[in-house]
Amino acid sequence: MIPTHISIIMDGNGRWAELRSKERVYGHKAGVESVRDCCEYAAKRGVKYLSLFAFSQENWSRPEEEVNALMELMAASIVKEVHLFYDNQIRLKVIGDLSKLDKDLVSKIEKIEDTTKDFSNLTVIIMLSYSGKWDLKQAAERYAIDYSDAISKGETPEPLTEELFASYLSTYGIPDPDLLIRTSGEQRISNYMLWQCAYTEFYFTETLWPDFRKEQFEEAIENFSKRERRYGKIK
Ligand code: IPE
Ligand code: IPE
Ligand code: MG
Repeated sequence: MIPTHISIIMDGNGRWAELRSKERVYGHKAGVESVRDCCEYAAKRGVKYLSLFAFSQENWSRPEEEVNALMELMAASIVKEVHLFYDNQIRLKVIGDLSKLDKDLVSKIEKIEDTTKDFSNLTVIIMLSYSGKWDLKQAAERYAIDYSDAISKGETPEPLTEELFASYLSTYGIPDPDLLIRTSGEQRISNYMLWQCAYTEFYFTETLWPDFRKEQFEEAIENFSKRERRYGKIK
């Protein structure tokens, strides 16, 4: 079975560049090619959602020079690759704490989100300035506001259920990932979608992100298709 939602922690750009005695940004640039390849392939394979961890909240602590280079690359790529979305009928969504981003980048993102909003072939979600704990915290805060608003109006607040809590997460409306891929040999979640990955299948590969292309993507999908998901039940 083809996963409905595939998520990727795109890791290993720095090491890929280092192996070639180049600056880290060279690896990030090569990584954009893999993003394009995987978006095209996901659209072709009938995947409905592809979420890509592009920049974590923790990544803000990298040297300023690298952060700036990454942000510039993000802005340039999003504009340069816009035909990718139109040609493949891909809807773009960006999720994360966008208040930390440059206003110009945010308006570029919003414009593309708006012009692709009716495309339904595949939704590509760029997780930018995102972290799982941030998401859980902002959801809890927003629920608390609605709860106290209801109390102050003399209404009964909606009781908290898992479904209701999930509706406050930044990923609301997007099904939880079926498959999470992490490249570069690291086997950790690095504060990614903590709630949403409760029953996700994990796939770890040694391949560095700039080397992760259609063939490697297909291998991950193939591996997933052989798994048995039990959700706590017995067969
Ligand atoms: C992933 O590659 C890209 C981002 C986190 C922005 P890295 O930059 O983490 O590359 P490595 O892990 O140092 O090789
Ligand atoms: C995770 O990669 C974040 C992204 C891929 C955007 P990192 O390279 O930042 O993760 P750690 O620090 O090795 O866990
Ligand atoms: Mg890394």
